[in-house]
Amino acid sequence: MSGAGIPAQSLPLAARAPGKCILFGEHAIVHGRPALLLAIDLFTQVGLREAASLRLNGSAEEAAAHPYLRTAVARLRAPGAPPLEVTVSSRLPKAAGLGSSAAFSSALAAGLLASGGGASRDRLALEAFAIERGAQGVGSPGDTTASVAGGYVAVNGGDGRPLWELSDGDRRWAVRRVRDPGWVWLLAYSRVPRDTATTVRAVTERLARPDGPELLARFGDVATRGIAAVAREDRAEVAALLGENQVLLREVGVSHPRLEALIEAIAPVVEGAKLTGAGAGGSIVALPRPGSEVDAARRIARAGGIAYVVRAAPVGAALIGAAPTAAGAGD
Ligand code: PMV
Repeated sequence: MSGAGIPAQSLPLAARAPGKCILFGEHAIVHGRPALLLAIDLFTQVGLREAASLRLNGSAEEAAAHPYLRTAVARLRAPGAPPLEVTVSSRLPKAAGLGSSAAFSSALAAGLLASGGGASRDRLALEAFAIERGAQGVGSPGDTTASVAGGYVAVNGGDGRPLWELSDGDRRWAVRRVRDPGWVWLLAYSRVPRDTATTVRAVTERLARPDGPELLARFGDVATRGIAAVAREDRAEVAALLGENQVLLREVGVSHPRLEALIEAIAPVVEGAKLTGAGAGGSIVALPRPGSEVDAARRIARAGGIAYVVRAAPVGAALIGAAPTAAGAGD
């Protein structure tokens, strides 16, 4: 089950959504290959109320310059409805590959859909993807899907009936639930910000070379084996596959000396590690040896990174303070 739909709720209201981490298959997912993601227990919260003009955290200029907010309002606020004041607070670092824009898009879409009469969860997934794609211009629905679904999700892989399917006309992405093994993960931001769209375009060019199809097949194979390994709670296999995935990400040119330094700094106390998200900066994800999480976080701090010890957030984007099911709910 992907969780209840978004109930109808009048303004003012608040919504929140989790960030995400890609365990296997970043970049290849853009080209329709399999990937495994989890929603992480670091959240972005938005508040919506009526106002005299569109504002973001009190600023009309900030609102006008924010492509995600503008795209969301254009799609989901009824023409002629009063303008909105949107306030945002987040524990997710920006431009770090941990899904801050997906969490903002998903929480904002949940709030706007609630104020417009409620919606099913698959409609929320579609709208959150449309906001991110509209603002970013490129990319897959992986990040917004994890933020909307919560827990672990396989895209174009896994078993059973899809929670939902999304398409951009060229590619299709089927989303399936993977059972949460309850593991603790270490994420570490390198403090090197990066731009997803630029990195996605560079990798797309790289994959257009003659060995592109073979590389994509190898990415797909690692992700498919990773999905199966998480489903059967096989930590040793997951750890080995994190390393295999990192080799491929190096090969398409998206690792970075700061990411490699973080991976090296924690190697003695983790079972496996790789970069996560678009790369070329951003963050790494590691599976710490049980009991070594604090040691690993200290090693990250000494190496100049910012560590987050996380688990899966079991529930995706939701209104804050609303009943779990109501009108408009669907699965
Ligand atoms: O670094 P992020 O959080 O923007 O993740 C990007 C993941 C990519 O696969 C590189 C792009 C995408 O849209 O799936």
